[in-house]
Amino acid sequence: MKKNDSNIKKAIKYLNNHECVAIPTETVYGLAANAYSKKAVSKIYKLKKRPKSNPLIVHYYNLNDLKRDCEIDENFKKLYIKLCPGPISFVLKLKKESMISKLVTNNSNSIAVRFPNHKLTRKLLKNINYPLAAPSANISKSISSVSKQDVVDEFGSKLKFILDGGPSKIGMESTIINLIGKPHILRFGGIESKIIYKMINALSNKNKKKTKIKVPGDSKLHYSPGIPMRLNAKKNFHNEAFILIKKRKEISKNYFYLSKTNNLKEAAKNLYKILRKIKNNGYKKIAIEPIPNIYIGEAINDRILRASKK
Ligand code: TXA
Ligand code: MG
Repeated sequence: MKKNDSNIKKAIKYLNNHECVAIPTETVYGLAANAYSKKAVSKIYKLKKRPKSNPLIVHYYNLNDLKRDCEIDENFKKLYIKLCPGPISFVLKLKKESMISKLVTNNSNSIAVRFPNHKLTRKLLKNINYPLAAPSANISKSISSVSKQDVVDEFGSKLKFILDGGPSKIGMESTIINLIGKPHILRFGGIESKIIYKMINALSNKNKKKTKIKVPGDSKLHYSPGIPMRLNAKKNFHNEAFILIKKRKEISKNYFYLSKTNNLKEAAKNLYKILRKIKNNGYKKIAIEPIPNIYIGEAINDRILRASKK
C-alpha cells in the first residue's frame, strides 16, 4: 500500500506541474491532465495525436466536485446514485462560470464527465483540487490500453509517469449517455444499455434514425489493430488469427479465445488484450466469430465493427 501512496503522490506532482500521467480506471487506462489548465490539456492532444475537434471526458471524485462545472437534472441524479462511481459517462451542460479549459470541450457548452471506479485513481482525485481530462491512453485510433505495459507500448518514453493499477477490470470504455434534450446513448460500453433504459426514459438505439451516433470521436476507423479484420467468420483461413468465444474441439495456434466459457463479460475484458497480442505476434489478418449482441456484447460488436472498417 505504501508503494501505491508514494506513486499517487508522484502522479500528483506531475499533474500539478501541468504534465500528463496515465491513470488506471476500471474501464481502460486514461491519459490524464488538469482539465482547468490549457497548457496541460494541450499536451494530451499532442501525445495522443488527437484532433482538437474531438473533445475529452473529464473525471471527477464526486458530485460536489462536478457541480462546480456542470448543470445536473433528475435523470442525472437517478443514474448517479445507482451507477457511480462506475463505467458510465454523461454529456451535460457546462456552467458558464466553469473553469474547464475550452480545449477540453472544443469550445462547446456541453461536456462529457465520469466518476471512475478504481481505488488508486479515486484516491488521486480526492487529493487534487481540479478534475482530470482523460481520454483513453492510446495513440488516436489505436487500441485502448488495459494494462501498464499497453501504455508503455503506446507512448514509450514520451510519457513521464504511469500510475500502475493492474489490469483494467472491465477492459472496455464507459457507456456514454447524452442527457441534454431527450436522453440517448452515444456509445455502448461498460454498462449495458438495458440497465439505463430501465432507470430513465431514453431514446432507444433501435430507432437508428433518431439516435445516429453523434460522438465526435466515433470515426469509422477506431480501436484498430491496424490489420484487416473479418467479422462473423465461421472458420479461419490459413495464417489468419481467429478470435473465438465458443470452445472448439480442435486445437490451433491461430485460435485466440475471448472466453472459454462463452462469458460476455470475460470476452469484453479480453478483447483489447487479444487484439494487441495478435498484432504483436505479427499476424496480417484477423477473423472473428459472431458475438451475441446482448449485454456487454453490444459494446464488443460496436468496437469490432469499427476495428474492421477500412
Ligand atoms: O471509459 C472511458 O470512457 C475512458 C476512460 C479513460 O475514462 N475514456 C475514453 O475517452 O474512452 P475517449 O476520449 O477515448 O473517448 C471519449 C469519447 C470520444 O469519442 C469523444 O468524442 C466523446 O467521448 N466526447 C467527449 N466529449 C463529448 C461531448 N461533449 N459530447 C459528445 N461526445 C463527447
Ligand atoms: Mg479512445
